[in-house]
Amino acid sequence: MSLEQEDNVSFVEKALSRLKRQQQESLPVGEIREQQPAAAEPVKTATTGAEPPDHTRSTRFIAVERERLRAEGFLASDRYRRQLADEYRIIKRPLIANAFGIGAPRVDDGNLILVSSAMSGEGKTHTCINLALSLSAEQDRTVLLVDGDVAKPHISRLFGVADQPGLLDALGDERRPLDELLIRTDIPGLVLLPAGRWSEYTTELLASDRMRELCHELAGRYRDRIILFDSPPLLATTEAQAIAQSVGQIALVIAENMTPRENVRAALELLDKSKPINAILNKSRRPIIGGYHYGGYGYGQNSDADGAADSKPQT
Ligand SMILES: Nc1ncnc2c1ncn2[C@@H]1O[C@H](COP(=O)(O)OP(=O)(O)O)[C@@H](O)[C@H]1O
Ligand SMILES: [Mg+2]
Repeated sequence: MSLEQEDNVSFVEKALSRLKRQQQESLPVGEIREQQPAAAEPVKTATTGAEPPDHTRSTRFIAVERERLRAEGFLASDRYRRQLADEYRIIKRPLIANAFGIGAPRVDDGNLILVSSAMSGEGKTHTCINLALSLSAEQDRTVLLVDGDVAKPHISRLFGVADQPGLLDALGDERRPLDELLIRTDIPGLVLLPAGRWSEYTTELLASDRMRELCHELAGRYRDRIILFDSPPLLATTEAQAIAQSVGQIALVIAENMTPRENVRAALELLDKSKPINAILNKSRRPIIGGYHYGGYGYGQNSDADGAADSKPQT
């Protein structure tokens, strides 16, 4: 079989298996269901040709309460959905380029992306969720959304998995297989890793060698996937900085007219400049893609703090 034929067959197989998954997954929303691993699609790695354990094999599954996400402002209303989709197309382009070496050099572990910001309320969780949805909507792209804001696990709560074991459990017990902790969703291509059980050694766990190993393992094992980490604000705790050490690239959300320039600079100082840092200007009312909007868009790599406020934050 030629390479081209193989590509076509694997494309059709993936599409069929995705369709089958969608048909299976009509569960009452918000309920976690255990599933047989056999129901999931096998995935081969380019390096070994073997079938590694894969997060699409995760036995846990949840139907997402989209209404809750919408009600809390984390999904766009019908009116703005198209505009949001256009904006996220711009935001994700440089991230994908770095992660997969498309039109840019491939960045080491570039498929691991930390979403952070200087301060709270700038839109990290909002950006993470919408970026994950935008990426997972692409053909054949799977996204693992990791709740790295372990002290305030907003993503875990929004998706109804706050009581489930997750990242901290994987870090605290190295015998615990990661696949057991991942939760597939009824949103095709979207997999969750909840924050997990809080421990007083959280920062140490996130800064540990085990975290670096786990991230490196995730990046290598799921080379064709994007792994997105939500996080606390960089200036509030050391946890985001700890996660930043283990990822390949960083998306820094900056709320326009809210975050003082010096805070953005201070946040940038905490990050390793050898990694690509993409700034995402959020809550902007400037005309970007026709008309005024209240949204975000990517505006450059390793950027200075343009667009941030000179004054004190309003909140
Ligand atoms: N681009 C946006 N458009 C509309 N609402 C937004 C946007 N970004 C953030 N928000 C809202 O602002 C609030 C704070 O956002 P959130 O993502 O929770 O911030 P963070 O995670 O940085 O603390 C939330 O209510 C969220 O819905
Ligand atoms: Mg948040």
